[in-house]
Formats: sequence, structure tokens, C-alpha cells
Amino acid sequence: MNKENSEMMKAWVASKYGGLEVMAFAEIEKPKITKGKMLIEIKNAALNPYDYKLRNGIAKWMSRKKFPKVYGGDFVGKVVKLQDDKSSFYEGQMVYGFANIFFGGQGSLAEYSVINPRFVRPLPEGIDPIDACASVSAGLTGLSGIQKCGNLRNKQILINGATGGIGHLVTQMSIAKGGIVTAVCSGKNAELAKKLGAASVIDYQKKNILEQKGHFDIVYDAAAKLTYTKAKGILKKQGIYCTTEEGIKPTCQALLSKVNPNTSMFLSSFRGRVQDFEELESLMISNQVKPVIYKTYSLEETGKAFELLEKGGFNGKLLIKIRD
Ligand SMILES: NC(=O)c1ccc[n+]([C@@H]2O[C@H](COP(=O)([O-])OP(=O)(O)OC[C@H]3O[C@@H](n4cnc5c(N)ncnc54)[C@H](OP(=O)(O)O)[C@@H]3O)[C@@H](O)[C@H]2O)c1
Repeated sequence: MNKENSEMMKAWVASKYGGLEVMAFAEIEKPKITKGKMLIEIKNAALNPYDYKLRNGIAKWMSRKKFPKVYGGDFVGKVVKLQDDKSSFYEGQMVYGFANIFFGGQGSLAEYSVINPRFVRPLPEGIDPIDACASVSAGLTGLSGIQKCGNLRNKQILINGATGGIGHLVTQMSIAKGGIVTAVCSGKNAELAKKLGAASVIDYQKKNILEQKGHFDIVYDAAAKLTYTKAKGILKKQGIYCTTEEGIKPTCQALLSKVNPNTSMFLSSFRGRVQDFEELESLMISNQVKPVIYKTYSLEETGKAFELLEKGGFNGKLLIKIRD
């Protein structure tokens, strides 16, 4: 039988909330297309920390109780079927984007996924499909923070976690927008930080970055390891702290910072508006931003990819290849 019409598909599934042990490679029912959605044949998926944080049960209220769950937000693939007459997409088209895994949606760690077109884009000419896939969540999350920081030309920007999934893209975006980047990473990633264009590199395992009092116009905390309270010390007057940290505390701090006359704080969080995708695509087409792929795993090996994602010690992005 033609695989496209088969009722079963291969997927990487979680049977309940928990650690690595709750996930396995499995055959599950192929999802059925519903109104307004599109059925996508997934070619590649990229992993992000939210994949294991959701699996651990961090946001059960957003995630619904139905198991097994398939995680994986970022994908590139081919449109198999559409269920929306007005759609500007067409069957057979190569697309990339974000499979909304919140509120019970199925992710991209499977051969097929039924996806809401809101965060789906046609794959632009001039962008490698793998790069498109690798850039979605990390690139759009990073871009939102960089947009909020205003004009970056000749600004001294410290990027904490400059070679991680978000950090290595924000480093390139900041340089593309004229910023002077001090990259903070572990010593083993210093070469990569220089290759990405950082003007200087600090090994956080050897040097305390908080010693550089009043030096930076912007501190972009890609690793979410600093805090506004700590970062204020190394910011110039009118300086900006921007973080990928999520939750009530940073949200309140960012709001309260609006009444601070000396420094301000913004959250760098995924927005995925059309103009954000367009800006990211333009940066990639012009070769100013190019994702670094640390390692690609097969769908069967996804457990190993999660192990590394959760342990750390890599740079750039981890990819899952589902089919050619
Ligand atoms: N990716 C997303 O879509 C997304 C969306 C929203 C929020 N976030 C949040 O943003 C954070 C980063 O995400 P990511 O995708 O970039 O993760 P990642 O790929 O795992 O990168 C994390 C980076 O943090 C660095 N790091 C670890 N400890 C550090 C320290 N003490 N000081 C400075 N750097 C340190 C690591 O550098 P070394 O390897 O050199 O040590 C690594 O490069 C996570 O907390 C995540 O939950 C991510």
C-alpha cells in the first residue's frame, strides 16, 4: 500500500510526563486532517529545550492530558493535503515552520503531522531546507528580543550563551545589525564564537562576566542564566537587559523595568508574526544568518538527541532526519 494512504506512521512518542525513559520509537496512527489544517509529510525536525520541558510536565495546563504525545515544534516538509479552500498553500509544496505542540497539537517528531498553517511558510528559494527547519523557534525567539532592543549600530552587546541554539543566531543577527558582540560561552566553543563574528569572547567558566561594570549597552541573555538584578551592574546607563527566561518573575520584572529611568528589561519570546518570518528569511537569504547544525540523528535515534539536548555540551542545533 502507498505509505501516504497507510493508517500507521513512525513517530517518537512520550507515553506520559516524565524523563527520557517515557519516550520511545513507535508506530502510531497517522493523524487525520481537520478543518483549516494541513497534512504535512515531515522531512526534518529540530529540537529545542521546550520539547523536554513540556515532556517533563512543566506546562501541563497548556499541554492537555491525552497520551501518547509527539513533541517537536520545528519542521520542514511537504504539503500532502489541505483542508482550506482559501489556502495560499498547495499540495506538493515544500514548507517549513512550527507545529503547535501546545493544547494537544501533534509535533514534528513523526512521519506526518496535521498542522495549523498560522506558523507555516513556503520554503523560500535560496534557503536550505535544513537551515529553515533549524532556525524556526530559536531564530524567531532570538529575533523578537533583538527587535525590542532597537538600533544596534555600534552598540556594545554582551551575548550570554552565544553559541547555543538561540545564542549563535542572535550573535549573527546582532552583527548583521551593526552591533559589537562580546560572546560568552564555554572555552570549547570560543572558536565558533569568533567564527560567527564576535569581537571578543569570554569563557564563563574562567572569568566572571559581572566584573565588567557599566560596559554594555545591551546584555542579551540567551542562556537565561543571568538575571536583571545581576545584569544591571554591567549595563551602561539606559542599557537594556533582554532574556529568554520565561515565567511570572521575569514577566513582572520586565513590566516593572518600564518605570526604571536607568535600565530596561525585555523578554525575548517567540512571536512568529509574518513580518518576523520575513525578516529572518531575509537575513538567511543574504547569508548574514546561517544556523550551525551540531549533529543530525535519525528518527529512531531521537532518544540520543534528547539526551544531549538535556545534558548540554553541544553548540548550534540538533536535527532529526525523518526522510530524504
Ligand atoms: N529554543 C527555543 O525555541 C526557546 C524558546 C523560548 C525560550 N527558550 C529558553 O532559552 C534558553 C536557551 O535556549 P537554547 O535553545 O539556546 O538552548 P541550548 O541550545 O541548550 O543553549 C544553551 C546555551 O547556554 C550556554 N550556557 C550554559 N550554562 C551557561 C552559563 N552558566 N553561562 C553562560 N552560558 C551558559 C551553553 O553554552 P556552553 O555549551 O558553551 O556551556 C549553551 O550554548 C533555555 O532556557 C530555553 O528554555 C528557548
